[in-house]
Amino acid sequence: MLKHLEQQLAERESQSLRRRRRVAETACAPRQTVTAHDGTPRELLTFCSNDYLGLANHPALIEALAEGARLYGAGSGASHLICGHSRAHALLEDDLAEMMSPHLPEVRALYFCTGYLANLAVLTALGDAQTTIYTDLLNHASLIDGARLAKAAVHTYPHNDLTGLARRLAACSTPRKLIVTDGVFSMDGDLARLPELLALAEQHDAYILVDDAHGFGVLGEQGRGVLSHFGLRSERLICMGTLGKAAGVGGAFVAAHRTFIDWLVQSARAYIYTTAAPPAVAHAVRASLRLIRGDEGDQRRQHLHALITALRAGVPEVLGEVLNQRGWRLAESHTAIQPLIVGGSAEALAIAAGLETQGLWVPAIRPPTVPSGSARLRITLSAAHRLDDVERLLAGLAAAARGAGDAEGTT
Ligand SMILES: Cc1ncc(COP(=O)(O)O)c(C=O)c1O
Repeated sequence: MLKHLEQQLAERESQSLRRRRRVAETACAPRQTVTAHDGTPRELLTFCSNDYLGLANHPALIEALAEGARLYGAGSGASHLICGHSRAHALLEDDLAEMMSPHLPEVRALYFCTGYLANLAVLTALGDAQTTIYTDLLNHASLIDGARLAKAAVHTYPHNDLTGLARRLAACSTPRKLIVTDGVFSMDGDLARLPELLALAEQHDAYILVDDAHGFGVLGEQGRGVLSHFGLRSERLICMGTLGKAAGVGGAFVAAHRTFIDWLVQSARAYIYTTAAPPAVAHAVRASLRLIRGDEGDQRRQHLHALITALRAGVPEVLGEVLNQRGWRLAESHTAIQPLIVGGSAEALAIAAGLETQGLWVPAIRPPTVPSGSARLRITLSAAHRLDDVERLLAGLAAAARGAGDAEGTT
């Protein structure tokens, strides 16, 4: 087996697909000291986190985490159904249910250790052999894995292609149907066509699991996410939101009609058979929700949108003809995820390396995370960035594009 794995690793290396971690020496923030695999620490201006509101290093959340530890200790000690379900978890679930109540009738919420587990939990608990799961081609890996683990039949529909989906739903032979979609697509930044999906669900008696990992905190009134952005309300909607991205702390929640939540507590193995997250984390998430829903949240969302507008206006200005000549494309996204799609994995790595020499960290995302031939720089913006950070990134992109062109002898 070792020999086989060594060959696999060498193959990945030769295809520019080998993944490597870096060590962050300082807190998640636009300016971060990072040690790469050569062992040298450097300060980089980063455009890679999902800390969209810049809350991960917020003094109020650091204090709430410490206060939570003083009140409830460091760990939960057990799974929720044994004795790990603390007052902090219960209060957080009440807060989340209240927050999502404009969109979900008779709503309850359930707090999970991670979004990955939450998606596995919902899909395996609802996706029995009498159910068909319909899943968008570009859904997050956790939704794909949840569908694989479920006993349901699974149909994957082309990205946001509702005509094909409607045909499939009309031909469905199982009594129950579950449509599954990212709210904001994690590697593209575009939105699911949720109003039309909900109309289809009503027409065909289906339910929808919306993964709002990248919309919660950022979109909609008080940061309620993509359901608020589209002004939707229905008992057919099940919303999963993560709390380690815009909320800046960790964990995830599922909010839905109370019957769904009761069923998850009875049957979702990814909820039942794992130790509850530390209560202090839940306590800190409660503090984060207060910030997200208040004036500070509004100000941070406004600033984030100004940064998104500046980046989208600046890319064609600084890259100009390069975009056409090299077949690069800034994805059609109006969220904090602004991918620059370049095509080949080696090219994406070369541009990321060119940016890094200028002190900028933008991750190159390659297959299998994205489809083959669509490797990209996944630029993410945060309310913790300043406008001049975006200007520095734009100048860096122009220089990296020139560098990549020189290397190929095209300029
Ligand atoms: C769309 C989407 N869903 C789910 C997850 C998983 O959430 P978590 O990181 O909390 O496990 C992520 C990212 O991590 C994501 O991008």
